[in-house]
Amino acid sequence: MTSPLFSSANKLKLGTFSANCSGGMAVTKVEERWDNNWDNNIDLVQQCDEAGIEFMLPIARWIGYGGDTDFHGNVLETVTWAAGLAAHSSRIQVFATVHTAFNHPIVTAKQLATLDQLSGGRIGLNVVAGWNKPEYDAFGKDLPGDHADRYAMAQEWFDYVQKLWRMDQAFDWEGTFYQGKGVYSLPHPVQDRIPIINAAASEEGRNFAMRNADFLFTPVFDFEQARDTVQDISTRAASVNRQVDVLTFCTVVCRPTQQEAEDYLNWYADENADWEAVDNLMTLQGLHAQSFTPEALGMFRDRFAAGHGGFPLVGTPDTIADLLEQLSATGVAGTALAFVDYAKEFPYFRQEVLPRLERKGLRQPVQHS
Ligand SMILES: Cc1cc2nc3c(=O)[nH]c(=O)nc-3n(C[C@H](O)[C@H](O)[C@H](O)COP(=O)(O)O)c2cc1C
Repeated sequence: MTSPLFSSANKLKLGTFSANCSGGMAVTKVEERWDNNWDNNIDLVQQCDEAGIEFMLPIARWIGYGGDTDFHGNVLETVTWAAGLAAHSSRIQVFATVHTAFNHPIVTAKQLATLDQLSGGRIGLNVVAGWNKPEYDAFGKDLPGDHADRYAMAQEWFDYVQKLWRMDQAFDWEGTFYQGKGVYSLPHPVQDRIPIINAAASEEGRNFAMRNADFLFTPVFDFEQARDTVQDISTRAASVNRQVDVLTFCTVVCRPTQQEAEDYLNWYADENADWEAVDNLMTLQGLHAQSFTPEALGMFRDRFAAGHGGFPLVGTPDTIADLLEQLSATGVAGTALAFVDYAKEFPYFRQEVLPRLERKGLRQPVQHS
């Protein structure tokens, strides 16, 4: 069975990011900030499914970032979230985001195979190798200081999951990080290949994606850096006869006029930003991850308030469609989107931006069966 994401003919794939987390991607105190409750998630997945959006991607988060709102303090666990969304949709690819350090490969292999069956072959796996020290503290684990150590464990974790998905007979696993006797995991996934995303940016992260993933999910700072990233990961992947595409994430403020969009951005992401949470998030990122370069962290405090560092799409439907066209021209395969209130703001995006993308040849009208 072929995955919906792989079979999509759209040049620019679209998804949502972080709808399972309180605040979504906006580190703001405004009252209408995203309430990640279940009803809102169902509303969103149904709208996205209808509109032909390719995927929904959650954040795996266990401890919030403090501040007045405790940004990401309230989070729906991603495997169970994906199961519920799959039951309320029929076409969209739903991802689970799984921390290699906090989830045993046998458990993940079986959870994802179960999700694949119950979704009719629509599950995806976003692998995260870990970086957030307070979460390791919560789990009573040490965060390996070295990226190489984190990714060595992630690689073994991933190889183990893949073998469980392949093997019909019991086998022993004698690894550095995992040992197991007489292991197998049935059922296997129903998709020919479960789409794999690796969310990262560092050298080790890119090499992990090169070896294992279909998509590197990574921040875009500007179009030139986006082009370089696409070139870099394609070259790495070609060296091992693989293809790895780039997905990124964007913050959307779409309004009838540029002024309205900018005023709203200013209202939620400056006047009412939860600056304490922004600074906690950025400090942790700077200390333990290399996803944002030090220069980017220095420049983009406003982008973190607006959307966790996402590339800004702020303006009229025309402006946003033009920006997405430029993003696509860099070779980026798609982007996840975040809105302050996803479910309320998506209809305008759908009505105004999607047809513009169709006219630009970046997407096709939805075929309802
Ligand atoms: C776009 C993006 C999304 C991510 N999503 C998550 C997530 O949901 N949960 C998590 O713990 N880490 C997440 N990460 C962190 C990465 O998986 C990784 O651990 C971190 O970026 C450090 O690796 P790096 O220095 O190789 O980028 C994300 C990273 C990026 C770039």
